[in-house]
Amino acid sequence: MQKGSPFFVPISQANIYHHNPCPVHGSKCPVRKNRQIQASTSILTWSKNSTIPFSFQKISKPFRIVVILAVLITALQFVQRPVANPTVVHPLQAPAEVVSILQRACYDCHSNETNLRWYDKIAPASWFVNAHVKEARQRLNFSTWDTLHSADQQGRFWEIVNMAISGKMPLTSYTAVHPKANLSPQDIEVLQKYARDMSPARYQDTSVINQAEKELHDFVQGNINNKVPVAANGVAYVPDFQNWQIISTTNRFDNHSIRILYGNDIAVKAIRNNNTHPFPEGSTVVKAVWNSIESENGDITPGSLNSIQIMTKNNTQFADSKGWGFAKFNGIQLTPYGHTPLFNSTCYNCHKIADNNDYIFNLPLKNEAGARPMFDAGDLKVITSFANRKQKTMSVLYGNAAARKSAIGGYQTHAAGEILKLVMFKQEDNKYWYGSYINGAMLSVETLTATGSDAKSLTYSLVQGRAPLNTNGQPMSGDERIIDILAHRPSVFP
Ligand code: HEC
Ligand code: HEC
Repeated sequence: MQKGSPFFVPISQANIYHHNPCPVHGSKCPVRKNRQIQASTSILTWSKNSTIPFSFQKISKPFRIVVILAVLITALQFVQRPVANPTVVHPLQAPAEVVSILQRACYDCHSNETNLRWYDKIAPASWFVNAHVKEARQRLNFSTWDTLHSADQQGRFWEIVNMAISGKMPLTSYTAVHPKANLSPQDIEVLQKYARDMSPARYQDTSVINQAEKELHDFVQGNINNKVPVAANGVAYVPDFQNWQIISTTNRFDNHSIRILYGNDIAVKAIRNNNTHPFPEGSTVVKAVWNSIESENGDITPGSLNSIQIMTKNNTQFADSKGWGFAKFNGIQLTPYGHTPLFNSTCYNCHKIADNNDYIFNLPLKNEAGARPMFDAGDLKVITSFANRKQKTMSVLYGNAAARKSAIGGYQTHAAGEILKLVMFKQEDNKYWYGSYINGAMLSVETLTATGSDAKSLTYSLVQGRAPLNTNGQPMSGDERIIDILAHRPSVFP
């Protein structure tokens, strides 16, 4: 749907003016009277001269146009009936103030309680209205809301909030004619609060922790996946994404997850050169998502693997979604999401919120010079990532092969030549998605290097920035930092 489509355009009053009582003069309307005389004269002419059924020529030109339009518009009304309102059986159950906002701004399209005004019911405007109501109900229907699973309701509600914040909904072509549907900042705050209430923090969630333990055990045993599954739209899993450059790191409080976004050379080069409007053909990004383990002290750490998600630019194959082919592989088993290629549009429809960013939510934030910096870890690969919401920091721990090996072994032993590198960033709000944090400016880079197998052989150095603070607000010592860094167990990769 294009934003400026001729949606809900009221038929100009002038067209129907002289067929209804005149709003200004009533039955004494001089124009109306004049028209009536003209019309009756022409009917008389017709009865005298039976060879011409209707002496239309005798009617003045403007009135002829009015008559033709009126006949046409009347005829059009039979082409399509006004949109019907099926019975509401499973409506949204939410606090009254939430329901009332949505009723006012969204229910005309996204419910079975469509309340069409007279000008919405007149063809041809009614055709657009009907088509949009039909599409809107298919996508999201508050009258069948309670048939959704609670996890789906939660996900959908955050989407609703973000559609509202981004100004994508209600459609501007609709608010132009129905200004009462506009959402105020207070309305949006009410919706945001309800979304937050639906997703309370889940401290030390045992189901996530137990699944994480099991997956970590398999990972340590080397039971890793060698599959290269392919999604129903033909987009294949990318086994070597761990060798790619990291674009950004994020964590979400709407669906309790922590993520790392990787990019291939084409995507990363495009970001470095600010050449992302649009991303060039062949750009691919891979997002690894873990269910997060949340602690009351603000710590967010990765638990079980939620999914690996991909977006790849192929303008020929995915012309309908601005060139982006989507794929999602669920869980450590990498089970493809979606049974038919149609799932691609489900992904794309929500990514439209980030249409100013060529549909990518998580581009690295710009620095003062306008560049989008990404930390280059060279040959090192990710061991894990974590965040602290109270301290507003987000971190990625990298290591070389030796360091990754000792990480998997729980750092029981070390090996000479081991290198660990911890990069800490400032946590920022993701302006494209309320519910998500993204890494901002870099705060520090710290390294640990081992000269032997003993933990005592580890050397700490602060390479960049300032040393992280302890709970008393004091800069931590090297020894404290070593303990802290090694306390983070590795993330499970497929
Ligand atoms: C005038 C009709 C209309 C109104 C009013 C309206 N929408 Fe929509 N909405 C649509 C249409 C049509 C689509 C599908 C096409 C599109 O995405 O632009 C849609 C799509 C959506 C989607 C995307 C669903 C998906 O496929 O992922 C969401 C979410 C949404 N609307 C939420 C809202 C909310 C919240 C409101 C009220 C604040 C609202 N809409 C008001 C017509 C409407
Ligand atoms: C309800 C909205 C929504 C839907 C549906 C959705 N995404 Fe996303 N997607 C997001 C948001 C929000 C982010 C940014 C998340 C974050 O902060 O980590 C994102 C990020 C991504 C990224 C990383 C690139 C980026 O945009 O930052 C990929 C890849 C991705 N999604 C793939 C998919 C795939 C594949 C599907 C369909 C199976 C899908 N998405 C469906 C909202 C959605």
